[in-house]
Amino acid sequence: MQQKDNESPSKIESNLSATEVSADSDPHHKVCFNFGASINNENDKRILCLSDTNLNHLNIGVVGDLGTGKTQLLKSLIYQINNSAKYNLDIKPNLLIFDYKKDYSAKEFVDSVSAKVIKPYHLPLNLFDLSNSEDQNTPWLHRFRFFADVLDKVFSGVGHVQRANLKTAIKRSYDDCAHLGRSPSIYDVHQKYHEILGPNKADSVSSIIDDLVDMELFDPNISTNNSSEEFLKGVVVISLNELGQDDKTKNMLVAIMLNIFYEHMLKLPKRPFYGKDNRYRVIDSYLLVDEADNIMRYEFDVLRKILLQGREFGVGVILASQYLRHFKAGATDYREPLLSWFIHKVPNITTQELSALGFSGDQRPMADVAQRVKSLALHECLYKSYDNPGEIIKGQPFYKYVLDK
Ligand SMILES: Nc1ncnc2c1ncn2[C@@H]1O[C@H](COP(=O)(O)OP(=O)(O)OP(=O)(O)O)[C@@H](O)[C@H]1O
Ligand SMILES: [Mg+2]
Repeated sequence: MQQKDNESPSKIESNLSATEVSADSDPHHKVCFNFGASINNENDKRILCLSDTNLNHLNIGVVGDLGTGKTQLLKSLIYQINNSAKYNLDIKPNLLIFDYKKDYSAKEFVDSVSAKVIKPYHLPLNLFDLSNSEDQNTPWLHRFRFFADVLDKVFSGVGHVQRANLKTAIKRSYDDCAHLGRSPSIYDVHQKYHEILGPNKADSVSSIIDDLVDMELFDPNISTNNSSEEFLKGVVVISLNELGQDDKTKNMLVAIMLNIFYEHMLKLPKRPFYGKDNRYRVIDSYLLVDEADNIMRYEFDVLRKILLQGREFGVGVILASQYLRHFKAGATDYREPLLSWFIHKVPNITTQELSALGFSGDQRPMADVAQRVKSLALHECLYKSYDNPGEIIKGQPFYKYVLDK
């Protein structure tokens, strides 16, 4: 399987990152990801032009066994996107990273992209803020349904009575806070839920909300309603590792933040295409979930919506996980909205799994390719995107950028 050569990587000067060069005769700048080189020739660079609208959408899947180079490749991608404003009509893309394993808070990386590492404590965000809400009629109901769905999926066992009580608590919180001219917060909902339950009573929903309040995940003194725009600016790393073993709270927090990200996305301007034949788009932001199996298994509707609707806003999602089976969760097939793939060594990969991703075996039998993927070396991966039906490449890890500087 070979590179379809409409933007010949061999033209690219080997000592420059792809964002620093024009990859074809079109003089317009565009954001490109220089992810590595041909397995046979390290000067034969491989790039993915993210701005090119021939790339239908910006979503990327990354797969590979433990320690095969996924995070290094992703850091390299973040580094390049973060430096791409001058190739992106002077718009600096934002990156939101959910960091489950403290992979993105090392000084070297943080300094290189000026990342804001945010601990899950006093987050200046409000799940119940309606200023970005898409539903103009009964936005509080939307918010209740979302929150109840998250609690039900992550913690399971939210009964009918608890759901009804939560609905009443949220409705009353909105009604009361409307008189005060602000949105309610989790702290208001907590108070109302306990009023409904009665003194010294508890149930599974109250104990979850108690924990949220006791942990002070969200800023109790949040003064502005709409602070998500400022919060999401630049490279933002949410250090979920700070929550220790508390996986449920981590995943609930990710779901809440996905919703805030989604509502923020819907308010973004739909920027016009630019360049010859309007071939290029502006990249607004990327959302990265490394160790995405944590979140994909809950099939949150909001993640699906960002994946499907993001391209209109110049927004892409990167999902990375160890096994391809993680990308098929219940009725949700996350493989479908992922167009570009980087598959590192996966010991048990099957030909069926590769075929399902659209790798075409026109030049090599799929079984051979699967066999090859099982024995890839560190940082090597099978790459596929709109301009390449599948090719084994040598990835460019982030630390190489740092060493090369
Ligand atoms: N500064 C460095 N110098 C040399 N090699 C490095 C450096 N940093 C990382 N590596 C190499 O990269 C490998 C780790 O890659 P990475 O963290 O990207 O793996 P991963 O696929 O994300 O693993 P996991 O599934 O455990 O998250 C290390 O095993 C190491 O060999
Ligand atoms: Mg990793």
